[in-house]
Amino acid sequence: MKIVESIADIRAALAPHRGARSIGLVPTMGAFHAGHVSLMRASRAENDMAVVSLFVNPSQFAAGEDLDRYPRDPARDAAVAAEEGVDLLFAPAAAEIYPAGFQTWVEVERLGRGLEGDARPGHFRGVATVCLKLFSIVRPDRAYFGLKDAQQAAVVDRLVRDLALELELRVLPTVRDADGLALSSRNAYLSAGERAAALALPRALAAGLEAYEDGGDPVEAAAAVLAGEPGAAADYVDTLALNGATVLAAAIRVGETRLIDNVVLEGDTP
Ligand code: PAF
Repeated sequence: MKIVESIADIRAALAPHRGARSIGLVPTMGAFHAGHVSLMRASRAENDMAVVSLFVNPSQFAAGEDLDRYPRDPARDAAVAAEEGVDLLFAPAAAEIYPAGFQTWVEVERLGRGLEGDARPGHFRGVATVCLKLFSIVRPDRAYFGLKDAQQAAVVDRLVRDLALELELRVLPTVRDADGLALSSRNAYLSAGERAAALALPRALAAGLEAYEDGGDPVEAAAAVLAGEPGAAADYVDTLALNGATVLAAAIRVGETRLIDNVVLEGDTP
């Protein structure tokens, strides 16, 4: 596996393969877990060249969020990516992505509002901008995202359609630990007690899905479960249309940590 840090170097590394070999891109912020690995494996299986980007994107963190303490372990990440057969790991410095004078931003308007968009002002503007920049640098045939960030997947899907980007968006199922907690780099922040409280999140979503299947109100059912867990404070519980699918999504705070998760109520995700 080759590690490249500049746009010029990744373009040079990909140039001989363009047109002849398909390219898969997994955009990440590192701190790899089994969710990232599932994206890497799909990309490896479906493309000739597997590219992973590793960039903790400052513009998608709102003021006062966890940018500074976001888990970073580039050596371990490189080992995991190499083990998964990744061909190129693109790990740029912030100045490479946001050079001096940078002032071009992408806003996905309606889908970027509500839920995470309201809770984290500027978040999806940062996500959409960095994704478009990564797509423009790598020019992948397919790009891989996890359904755990359902609104993000919807925003990127809209971006790809609206700007007629020539790539296929692949959204893969959420990977969970045995206790049901969706894998997230932020789970590393949780103490044992906080982790126990965080399990109210998948429990609430399961209760919402069950209520929905019984003809009830999924939001009410999920909110009731969260209200019963003193260690977790609900940020929001709501439904979200994601192209052909409807998901029930929630965010909670456990101590200093904010976690999100969702379940598909009906339909197929993109
Ligand atoms: O899901 C993430 O890790 C990030 O939001 C992404 C897509 C890599 C953009 O920075």
